[in-house]
Amino acid sequence: MRSMDMMEHIVTHSRRVCQVAACIAENLNHQSRQPNLKLVIASALLHDITKTRSFKTGENHAVTGARLLERLGYREVADIVRQHVRLDTYSASDSITEAEIVNYADKRVLHDQVVGLNERKDYIFEKYGKTPENRNRLNWLWKETKHLEGRIFQHMPFDPEQLPDYLTTPPVPAG
Ligand SMILES: [Fe+2]
Repeated sequence: MRSMDMMEHIVTHSRRVCQVAACIAENLNHQSRQPNLKLVIASALLHDITKTRSFKTGENHAVTGARLLERLGYREVADIVRQHVRLDTYSASDSITEAEIVNYADKRVLHDQVVGLNERKDYIFEKYGKTPENRNRLNWLWKETKHLEGRIFQHMPFDPEQLPDYLTTPPVPAG
């Protein structure tokens, strides 16, 4: 994170996403397969690794972040980072993957605050929903994210709006 010169507010955002993702991974009461907590933490912390640079270059930071991490040898982390904006597949499966946890956690954090999906959606629409095509794409994404929330919280001991009360793990230090 240091070598990529990440802006301070993106580091703070990443730490909060990490806290939310870890909380979900730890509380997920899964029958078949528990998520890999270390993989969730690493991927959440690094999900916006090239975002600071993208402000100058206009690059797709999900794609280039994944490429960077893959080059460093972190293939599993790269695969999750690549899918943090949009998942490759929106499945109906009962089992929840690490990529789904990180993708969802990022949609519950606005800057450094934990918010509901609707609040985050309003912000994203205002920022990225300038054209009808973009708004259509975002509407589709949000419908799928709402569905993902339902799938995740089937396995959780609390409701989506109670999430802030369960964030016991302190944010992971950046350095
Ligand atoms: Fe991002």
